[in-house]
Amino acid sequence: MTSTAQAPQPGARTAHPDHLGHVIFIAAAAAMGGFLFGYDSSVINGAVEAIRDRYDIGSAALAQVIAIALTGWAIGAATAGRIADRIGRIRCMQIAAVLFTISAVGSALPFALWDLAFWRIVGGFAIGMASVIGPAYIAEVAPPAYRGRLGSFQQAAIVVGIAISQLVNWGLLNAAGGDQRGELMGLEAWQVMLGVMVIPAVLYGLLSFAIPESPRFLISVGKRQRAREILEEVEGKDVDFDARIAEIEHAMKSEHKSTFKDLLGGSFFFKPIVWVGIGLSVFQQFVGINVAFYYSSTLWQSVGVDPTDSFFYSFTTSIINIIGTVIAMIFVDRVGRKPLALIGSVGMVIGLGLEAWAFSYHLVDGKLPATQGWVALIAAHIFVLFFALSWGVVVWVFLGEMFPNRIRAAALGVAAAAQWIANWAITASFPSLADWNLSGTYVIYTVFAALSIPFVLKFVKETKGKALEEMG
Ligand code: GLC
Repeated sequence: MTSTAQAPQPGARTAHPDHLGHVIFIAAAAAMGGFLFGYDSSVINGAVEAIRDRYDIGSAALAQVIAIALTGWAIGAATAGRIADRIGRIRCMQIAAVLFTISAVGSALPFALWDLAFWRIVGGFAIGMASVIGPAYIAEVAPPAYRGRLGSFQQAAIVVGIAISQLVNWGLLNAAGGDQRGELMGLEAWQVMLGVMVIPAVLYGLLSFAIPESPRFLISVGKRQRAREILEEVEGKDVDFDARIAEIEHAMKSEHKSTFKDLLGGSFFFKPIVWVGIGLSVFQQFVGINVAFYYSSTLWQSVGVDPTDSFFYSFTTSIINIIGTVIAMIFVDRVGRKPLALIGSVGMVIGLGLEAWAFSYHLVDGKLPATQGWVALIAAHIFVLFFALSWGVVVWVFLGEMFPNRIRAAALGVAAAAQWIANWAITASFPSLADWNLSGTYVIYTVFAALSIPFVLKFVKETKGKALEEMG
């Protein structure tokens, strides 16, 4: 099925104007999970040197302590769907908020390295859950005509979370005299950095009490009247609710009970749609986006920026990331998800290709020649801009809405877990790949960006404007 932009679309109802503000609030509250995700994944960058120093460990052990959070992410993402199907989307958010709060306090006040690692896993688990529940919930609650834009709140929250954590880290570091272990409020600066996460975590928990349960979950547990009230709240009064509820019930009945088994199909282990979700996740990571964030200071230094200023320049990448995300939010419901993804892939091929070219020159004293240095910098920004206006947003929107109702939460969990594993594979392999050949590393990312084009053209179906009941 391709885009049905011209045909009448049963799902393309608009929200009643009186309710739009409320719907935006609901989506923003659910997207707080994305904020935590962005914040947590990047806050650790400000603390690594202090952790290495305090526990007197080498790079390999340090990498383990950092990467171990990914174990939690993957498990949280893989199990969130089942938990959400059993106890509801809102309860699931509340569990994530509680775990996240505990983990922020635990990681800020560890008494040993293993204890810090343990709390990072717990926090990772919470983030994995939140990263699945946010897009699934928003897709289920949003009126179809606004679903893309509201679904993109998740990515907007992630990129704002990354940017804010950089700012907070920078502010705290300055306050502690530029030393990650410098004293601040009776603790070391890095402990405060990790502890500050308590604030968004508690806010997430509180906000979850102010938003309604997903109508699709309520229908699945037989609470039709409550589901109807919520549909009225978000889709407006002019909708034929009996028809709407019947449509949702019908779509749910035509599929079986959602378990991991339901994701399986044919000789390819998973059903094709699940593979498409996994493919989207893997391509999103294999273009090397998180290398641009996690290792940005290395990049800046190779073009001659002073290490202490590299924080500031990393922040400019985050600003570009936010700008690109806003562009995507404007266009995702207008031009559709597929065209945006394709435009983004082309832009990423150009940006990454230029980086590969620039880094094919020899570094002298760890720096590129001036022209290539500038090309590398501009190319990195082109890459981040095109990623942000396409794959950054589109993948989270797709994952929230592309699966049929009964397998949505479980399938999204598997796709999100694949994303964490792919993220880990790319970020953990970058230092060794860079030692081998930096230009060659960018060639690999360029090839993945190029391959994403035929992947989208052949396997991904447009979801713009369709009701979730029509997915399948
Ligand atoms: C997407 C990716 C995430 C990345 C972010 C950068 O959300 O899933 O891994 O850090 O974009 O903006």
